[in-house]
Amino acid sequence: MAEAAMSIEFEDIQGLVRFGYKHLTQACFLLLRIRDAGAARAWLANAPVTSAITRKPPPRTAVQIAFTCAGLHALGAAEDIVEGFSAEFLAGMSSDESRARRLGDLGANDPARWQWGGAQDRMPHVLVMLYAVPGELDEWLRTIRAQCEAGFEQLDCLSTSDMDGVEPFGFVDGISQPRIDWERERAAHDEEQFEYTNLSCLGEYLLGYPNEYGAYTDRPLLDRARDPAALLPRAEDVADKADLGRNGSYLVMRQLRQDVEGFWRFVDGQAGGDAALSEKLAETMVGRTKKGKPLVEVSGETDDLNAFTYDGDPEGLRCPFGAHIRRSNPRNADLPPGWSDPISRLVRRLGFGSDALRNDLIASTRFHRLLRRGREYGGAPGEDVGLHFICLGANIARQFEFVQGAWLAGTKFDALPGEGDPLLGHRLAGADGMPTDGFSMPAASGPDRRLTGLPQFVTVQGGAYFFLPGIRALRYLSKVQP
Ligand code: HEM
Repeated sequence: MAEAAMSIEFEDIQGLVRFGYKHLTQACFLLLRIRDAGAARAWLANAPVTSAITRKPPPRTAVQIAFTCAGLHALGAAEDIVEGFSAEFLAGMSSDESRARRLGDLGANDPARWQWGGAQDRMPHVLVMLYAVPGELDEWLRTIRAQCEAGFEQLDCLSTSDMDGVEPFGFVDGISQPRIDWERERAAHDEEQFEYTNLSCLGEYLLGYPNEYGAYTDRPLLDRARDPAALLPRAEDVADKADLGRNGSYLVMRQLRQDVEGFWRFVDGQAGGDAALSEKLAETMVGRTKKGKPLVEVSGETDDLNAFTYDGDPEGLRCPFGAHIRRSNPRNADLPPGWSDPISRLVRRLGFGSDALRNDLIASTRFHRLLRRGREYGGAPGEDVGLHFICLGANIARQFEFVQGAWLAGTKFDALPGEGDPLLGHRLAGADGMPTDGFSMPAASGPDRRLTGLPQFVTVQGGAYFFLPGIRALRYLSKVQP
C-alpha cells in the first residue's frame, strides 16, 4: 500500500516501537509520581522524547515516556478521555484477585509483596525510560532528573545491566520478534492466512490502525471541539474525531527476579551432575540452545534463528510442547498443519477430529504476538538479578494477558495438565488441587519423561500497565483539556 507507506508517521511515534535501542546499551527506568500537575505538564509539553525517525548517526541518548491510568488522572486528564482506554489498562495489572490468579501472581508473586506497582502508594504515575551509549547514561539521567524535579517525585530508579544479549540464566534472548507491517502491505483480516507468518499488522502494536482482525482497537476518540488547536491526529476510521490513541501503544512492564543458582542447581541435580546433560535439559526447558539455536530444525539453508515452525515436530520430540518458547509462541496460524485443504477445514469447523481441542488451544498465534523490549538488571555479587520484562501491544488482554495467563501460567496449555511454564511458573497447586510443578518431555518410544517438583525460578517483584502515547498525544495530554 504505497500511499500508506508514504504516510507512516514516524515523527509521531516513540522510537521504542520501532527500535530496541540495542546500540544504547545503558538504560534506566525512572518510576515517577506527579507531585505538581502544573509543573509536570510543563515538562511534558517540551520533554525531549525520541521519535521513531531514523537518524544518521543514530542518537547517543533517548528518552521515552509512558503513563499508568493513575498517572493520567494525576496529570488532570479529563475523566471521559481516560475512560476511552481499554478496561485492562484502566484496572491495572495488580487491581484484582482474579487478574492476579490468571497472570500467575500468587504466593511469592503476590502484588502485595511487590516493590512497586502493587500498593497504591507504590504505583508509578509516569515511566521515563532513559537510554544512552556507554559512559553517557549518568549525565543523561542528571539532565532529565533536573528537568523533572519540579513536577515529579521519584518512586524508584530501576537500573539495567548490559549482558550482551544474554539473559541471566545464560541464554541468548531477543531473537524472535514479530515483523511489523509498517507498509501495511498485508491484507488485514486475511482469512486465508493458514501458514505461520512473522509479519504482523501495524494495528497489533499501534492504536489507530487496523489489527489482525481488520478492526481498530478501542481508544479515546474525541470530538473536534476537544482539540481546537488540532494537536492530535485525526482518526482513520471515524470521521471528525481526534484520535488520542493513534501512534501510541500499551507498554507492559514486569520486574522478574531470576534465581540463577536455583535454576542450575535443579537442572544439575536432575542430570546427576553431568554438565552436558544438565545444559541439554535447560535447553529443553527454553526450546533453544544457550546460543539461541532452536531445538527444531530451521527451514532451508539459512542462519536465521527464527526461520522455523513446529510443523516438523508434531509430537514435541525435539522441542517439548511445554518449552518456554513453544508456549509463548506456538507458531501455528489460524489452522494447524494439515488442515488447510477445504475438506479438512470443514471437518474441523464442525468440531470433529481427535486433535481439535489441543489445536484450538494453540491456534491463532497471530492474535497473540508481543513486541519485546526488556532489559536485564543486576548481577553484581550479592545483588538481585533478573529481567525488566517489557512488551508493547495494542491490546493488553489479547496479547500480554493471553500469553502470560493462558499459555505461560495456564495449566491446561496444549493439553498438558499439571505444568506451568518451566522458567516462569509459580508452582503452586491450582484451586482444584492440580499441581503445576511438572515438565514433560515426550519420548519417541515409551512414556514421556516427566520432571516433577520444579522449584520457582522467577519471582515477580513489580509491574504495571502503561500507555506509551504518540508524541502529539503526549503534547495534548500536557494541556488542560477543554
Ligand atoms: C525472567 C523471565 C524470562 C526469561 C528468562 C525468558 C527467556 C527467554 C528466552 C531465552 C527466549 C528465547 C529467545 C528468543 O526467542 O527471543 C525467550 C523467548 C520468548 N519469551 Fe521469554 N523469558 C522470560 C519471560 C517472558 C515473559 C513474561 C513472556 C510473556 C509474557 C515471555 C515471552 C516470550 C516470547 C513471546 C518469546 C519468543 C518466542 C518465539 O517467538 O519463539 N518471556 N524468552
